[in-house]
Amino acid sequence: MILAPAASFHDVILAIHIMAVVIAFGVTFAYPIMFAVGARRDPRSLPVLHRIEYTIERTLINGGLVLVLGAGIFLASDGHHWSEFFVQWGLGAVIVIGTLVGAVMIPTAKRAETVAERDIAAAAGGGGQIELSEEYQALVRRLSTVGSLLSALVLITILFMTIQR
Ligand code: HEM
Repeated sequence: MILAPAASFHDVILAIHIMAVVIAFGVTFAYPIMFAVGARRDPRSLPVLHRIEYTIERTLINGGLVLVLGAGIFLASDGHHWSEFFVQWGLGAVIVIGTLVGAVMIPTAKRAETVAERDIAAAAGGGGQIELSEEYQALVRRLSTVGSLLSALVLITILFMTIQR
């Protein structure tokens, strides 16, 4: 334990801030692989993958965002950073991410789960070949466009937090 005595309370909260970023957003970078493998290997897995997707958004992402924000508020106050651009950007990023996750990602993933279940059930009654509908494809396009935007926003925010402070 060489480092522990030198670590300040501020450093611990900074570590929590960064841990919360990893907890909230880490898994989202794996979504494209998860869905590509699911669609190719077994389309029957898609409804459960969408359920996993929006459950992660409700729990890890929303909870992580609260922790990122709470720790960020402490760091900005303790370090007198409120007037700096990176803090205002961070606040804006948290608001945009929270809004898009709640208003677009969660409802779209829920709808995709329902439509995929319907398409799979239709295939079972019509010869077994699964044809995912145009409605499902449109929902997936929306999820992947907004999801990519959110991932880019997270990476840009990390860049600003690191180079501006
Ligand atoms: C998605 C949102 C956010 C991400 C990804 C993020 C990421 C980070 C990262 C990676 C660092 C470490 C930078 C370094 O040590 O070089 C950092 C530091 C910091 N963040 Fe954030 N942050 C976010 C939101 C916020 C918010 C909302 C606030 C304020 C309300 C905030 C305030 C700060 C402050 C003040 C520091 C510097 C702390 C210090 O070194 O004393 N962040 N952030």
